[in-house]
Amino acid sequence: MRRVVCPGSFDPVTFGHIDIIGRAAKQYDEVVAAVLNNVNKRGLFTVPEKLDMLRQTTAEFDNVRVREFDGLLVDFCRVNGIETIVRSLRSVSDFDYELQIAQMNYRLSGVETVFMTANPRYSFLSSSLVREIAQHGGDVSSLVTPYVEDRLREKFDERRDA
Ligand code: PNS
Repeated sequence: MRRVVCPGSFDPVTFGHIDIIGRAAKQYDEVVAAVLNNVNKRGLFTVPEKLDMLRQTTAEFDNVRVREFDGLLVDFCRVNGIETIVRSLRSVSDFDYELQIAQMNYRLSGVETVFMTANPRYSFLSSSLVREIAQHGGDVSSLVTPYVEDRLREKFDERRDA
């Protein structure tokens, strides 16, 4: 069984993430989409909200599981029998950062990192830009699923009402 992890903050999940998860699901037996529960950084969405959106948007893939993790990714890999991390590269600046993390993860644990080039349709896309556009009422319908679009609208409505 070749099981890999697609880790991330997923704040929120975008079409770029879904593209990578779906392509990984074709290459491997099982893909674990793992949401970082970062105690040092509060996101726009809570971890349960991120998990819900990821479950909704990856429901079409039979071999994708959605989980959360905290601490080191390599520890999550060890506990879950995962030997490969899949990460997306959108740009050279992604590569600079990702190379260092990949080498450190390998040094720590022997877990390999496989890089997938981002689909050019989404190479400009990031969760932080989606949050910013949605916050100002911009159109994110080509960047996230309708379900996520609704959650973004709710989140910013809640904040305006608070
Ligand atoms: O979506 P992101 O924010 O680019 O994902 C980054 C993530 C979650 C993959 C990365 O920050 C991570 O693996 N964090 C867990 C802590 C860890 O293992 N750090 C690497 C130490 S070398």
